Amino acid sequence: MANSNNIEYKKRIIKTWNEIAPRYHKRWVGKSTGPFQSTQKLVSMAKLRRGNTVLDLACGTGAVTRQILAKIGKSGHVIGLDSSQAALAIAKKSIKEKNADFAIFDAENFEFSQKFDAVTCQYALFFFPNATKALANIKKALKKNGTLALAVHGAGDSVPYFSSILDSVQKFIPDYLPSGAPDLDRFGTKENLKKAIVRAGFSNVVIKEHKFWYSPGTFAKYWSDYHKYLAKPLREKLDKLDQKQKAELRKTVLEKTISYTRNGIIRFPWKVLVLSAQKP
Ligand SMILES: C[S@@+](CC[C@H](N)C(=O)[O-])C[C@H]1O[C@@H](n2cnc3c(N)ncnc32)[C@H](O)[C@@H]1O
Repeated sequence: MANSNNIEYKKRIIKTWNEIAPRYHKRWVGKSTGPFQSTQKLVSMAKLRRGNTVLDLACGTGAVTRQILAKIGKSGHVIGLDSSQAALAIAKKSIKEKNADFAIFDAENFEFSQKFDAVTCQYALFFFPNATKALANIKKALKKNGTLALAVHGAGDSVPYFSSILDSVQKFIPDYLPSGAPDLDRFGTKENLKKAIVRAGFSNVVIKEHKFWYSPGTFAKYWSDYHKYLAKPLREKLDKLDQKQKAELRKTVLEKTISYTRNGIIRFPWKVLVLSAQKP
């Protein structure tokens, strides 16, 4: 629902992604490690063929867009949409194919006269405060029998890379996440994801649950990388803690990682749900 909280939250998301897009691209995109092993699985579930037209929603810096192009060939066409100018600038710079276009749009507010064979959306549905509206837009953009393929992270402790830090930080800084922020875990179980997609009017819903592994290295590296890749507003909140609180927070996070640590190296499981569904 459009309310002032949502608008503030969206502005914050745009600012955040404009800041972190270059770091995100360098660290994750193009590497098929950890959660990004999903890209190939997602594109394969989209059942793309040569000549298809595809919309890559919340395309970011183009991780999925690039793989779509390889499937649809020169006779196909892909459009990447995202609300971050900086992410799109990176995508445009690294993807030069003439049959790839990029445009700045909010997932909850886009409309095309053209209809697509498939819509992809990797690691973004949970960011949309009104995901119902985004799903309705996706459905509208698809041809009859067109395919939606999307990927989301698992909820809570199924992704300890996030939960080890987030659960602990929120104990120390209750307003850590911005006001109006949706529950980022709300699609992180098969049941909840299926419910949302069926409610949006899609059929033939197939959800595959994957358990990938990701090693961020030692605890010291995991902890320092968290700070390094964090958006400024969150880093500022962390920096406001006094030395004692900072030490306690670090200890709390460290304790959460112990069960995933062998010989000083953390190895996290990472649950990912990859879904395909059809517009009836
Ligand atoms: C984790 S990144 C995923 C990017 C890409 N799909 C990938 O797999 O690398 C999330 C992306 O969602 C975008 N995003 C968040 N909220 C959005 C919205 N309301 N409309 C469009 N894009 C949005 C962000 O700008 C960011 O690029």
